[in-house]
Amino acid sequence: LNGKKVLITAGPTYEQIDPVRFIGNYSTGKMGVAIAEEMQNRGAEVTLVLGPSSVKVNTGIKLVPVKTAEDMFTACEKIFPGCDIAVMSAAVADYTPVNNALEKIKKTGHELTLQLTKTKDILKTLGEQKTGKQVLVGFALETNNETAYALQKLQTKNADMIVLNSLQDAGAGFGYDTNKITIFDKDGTTFPFDMKSKKNVAIDIVNTIIQQFYAKN
Ligand code: CTP
Repeated sequence: LNGKKVLITAGPTYEQIDPVRFIGNYSTGKMGVAIAEEMQNRGAEVTLVLGPSSVKVNTGIKLVPVKTAEDMFTACEKIFPGCDIAVMSAAVADYTPVNNALEKIKKTGHELTLQLTKTKDILKTLGEQKTGKQVLVGFALETNNETAYALQKLQTKNADMIVLNSLQDAGAGFGYDTNKITIFDKDGTTFPFDMKSKKNVAIDIVNTIIQQFYAKN
């Protein structure tokens, strides 16, 4: 991947409710950081747009720290046009509070209703902007109907590949050092993999990208 420019998103996003609270998720960023490092090992110039995460990132990777889905969207919109490959592994919030209270919300009644609005879908937006030379890889994290949902995301988001993680596999998903993935590409090929360390899963993902999009020509 010498000379190739790669954009990776990783980690969760934090959607602010008030100055002390947010809506987040259990993503740690480990998988995305491992992919960024493997891309770098193969000679790529890597930019990592990373949500709140305590994972250490190799020097040499250009780190763009972000907090919210909106921040991540803005960063990716700017970086993507100059990239050859984009891998969207971040667990982006699908909804964000309509109001971000300037002061801490005090407890009052028995119930509290938060109104949420949809965030911009980064993968889908980049899928609409993608040129024929760019490779766009998305992730799907599912608990049921995994294959059907993964194939649906491949289509609706105009991705070239979808990496599926199933939460039904023990040892796969948020927080673990291992993961079990299946890759689907837009030509209808399925690549199943065994449970491995996230470092070795990253090697499989990068190898599959190289094999499908670069080694053939
Ligand atoms: N994603 C994104 N921007 C969002 C939401 C998701 O770029 N606002 C990306 C993720 O990084 C991942 C893929 O889309 O690569 C799948 O995300 P997911 O949230 O599972 O898919 P959704 O289309 O939001 O569908 P659902 O939540 O119904 O499964």
